[in-house]
Amino acid sequence: MASLASETALAADPLDVTRPELYRDDRWHEPFRRLRAEAPVYRCEESAFGPYWSLSTYKPIVEVESLPELYSSQAGGITVADLMPEDIKMPMFIAMDRPKHTGQRRTVAPAFTPSEMQRMTGDIRMRTAEILDSLPVGETFDWVDRVSIELTTQMLALLFDFPWAERRKLTYWSDWAGDIEIAKDPVKKEERRAILFQCASEFGALWNAKVGKDPTPDLISMMIHSDAMAEMDQMEFLGNLILLIVGGNDTTRNSMSAYAWGLEQFPDQRARLEADPSLIANATQEIIRWQTPLAHMRRTATADAELMGQQIREGDKLVLWYLSANRDENVFERPDEIIVDRPNARRHLAFGHGIHRCVGARLAELQIGVLMEEMAKRRLRANVVGEPERVAACFVHGYKKMPVELSRY
Ligand code: HEM
Repeated sequence: MASLASETALAADPLDVTRPELYRDDRWHEPFRRLRAEAPVYRCEESAFGPYWSLSTYKPIVEVESLPELYSSQAGGITVADLMPEDIKMPMFIAMDRPKHTGQRRTVAPAFTPSEMQRMTGDIRMRTAEILDSLPVGETFDWVDRVSIELTTQMLALLFDFPWAERRKLTYWSDWAGDIEIAKDPVKKEERRAILFQCASEFGALWNAKVGKDPTPDLISMMIHSDAMAEMDQMEFLGNLILLIVGGNDTTRNSMSAYAWGLEQFPDQRARLEADPSLIANATQEIIRWQTPLAHMRRTATADAELMGQQIREGDKLVLWYLSANRDENVFERPDEIIVDRPNARRHLAFGHGIHRCVGARLAELQIGVLMEEMAKRRLRANVVGEPERVAACFVHGYKKMPVELSRY
C-alpha cells in the first residue's frame, strides 16, 4: 500500500501554481515557464482552492478581460479563493459587473485624475524626503517597514484624510483583508471578521464626521458628494473604502520593496539609472512589471465558451496570472531581467486590463517615481544585505522584511 506521503505527492499537481510555498521560496518561475510553453490555458483539477483554469500568457488574459460579460468579476469574486458565505457583506466595485461597476468606479475616479495627482505631488515629495532624511546611512534596517510600508501608509492617509497618528491601522486592516490564505483557517477567519468589522466602524465614524459638511479634497468627501453615492448603501460605501486601502497598500508597498531588491539583482541596470535619472519614469513601469505585486485576478465564466482551443464551461473559475504574463517571452525580451530602458515596459499587465484596470495606477506610479527621484537627488543607493522574507501566498506577491544598508554613490 502506498504511504500517505507518496499518495499526497501523487495527488499534488506540479503545475498547481496556487501553492503558497512557491512564492515564499521564490520558486514560481519554473512551473510558470512550463505552463506558458506547454499549456497557456491549463485546467488544474486539484488544488487547495478547488479546480481552476490557469491563464499564464499575455493573449488569453487580455481576451478574458476584454469580455467582462462572459467572464464575470462578480459571480465568484476576484481571487482564486472562493467568496466566503459567512463573510461580512461589503460589496466592492472591483467585484462587480456592469452597469453597477461603472457607476461606483465613477465615484472614486476623480480622486486619481492628472490634476489631482499634480495637487498631491508636493505633499508626497515632502513626506518622502522626510522619511529618506531620517534613515541611517551605513547601518542595516528593514526597508519594508521603514520605507515601503511607511510611505504607502502616508500616501493612503493623505488620500483619505485619515487621522495621521493612527495611520498604521490602515496597514493592519489591509494586511488582514488581503490575505487569502486565511480562508483555509477557521480561527483566523473569525479574527479577520472582527478586525474588518472594527475597520468598517472606524470608517463609518469618519464618514459621519463629513456628511453634511462642505466638500474637502479627499476620497471620503468626494464619495459622499458624488451622484452615484445616492444609490450606494453604507456597506457598499465601506466595501469600496476597504477596496481602496487594500488596492493601494500591498501593491505600492511591494513595488517600493522591489525597487531595492530588483536593482540589487541587476547592478549594471542600477548603475545606468543612477547615471541617468531621466530613465526613472520608464524604470518605474519596469519594476512594477518585474514585481507584479498582485500575482493574479480571477474571473468566473457566465456561459460555455472556447478560449485558445480549450472548452470553458459556465461557472468555471479562471485565474489570470499577471505575474506570468509579465514574463511572457513572446512579449518581453529577456523577461526575467530588469532593463531600465525596456522599450515596451509600459505594456505590462500588473494593473490589469479593460474596464477594471487599476484606478489608482497614476497614484502608485507617482509615489514610486518620487521615491526614486528623491533617492537620486541624495545620491542614495539601497543595498540589500540579506535574503528578503517573502509573503507565502499566490495573490499578494511581495516581501515581509528586507535588510538594507544605504550608501552614497
Ligand atoms: C484594481 C494592481 C495601486 C486601487 C487593480 C487591479 C490590479 C491592480 C491588478 C485589477 C485589474 C483588473 O481586474 O483588470 C495594482 C498595482 C498597484 C496598484 C500593481 C501598484 C503598483 C493602487 C492604488 C490604489 C488602487 C494606489 C488606490 C489607492 C484600485 C481599485 C481597483 C484596482 C479601486 C478596482 C478597479 C475596478 O474594478 O474598476 N489594481 N494597483 N490600486 N486598484 Fe490597483
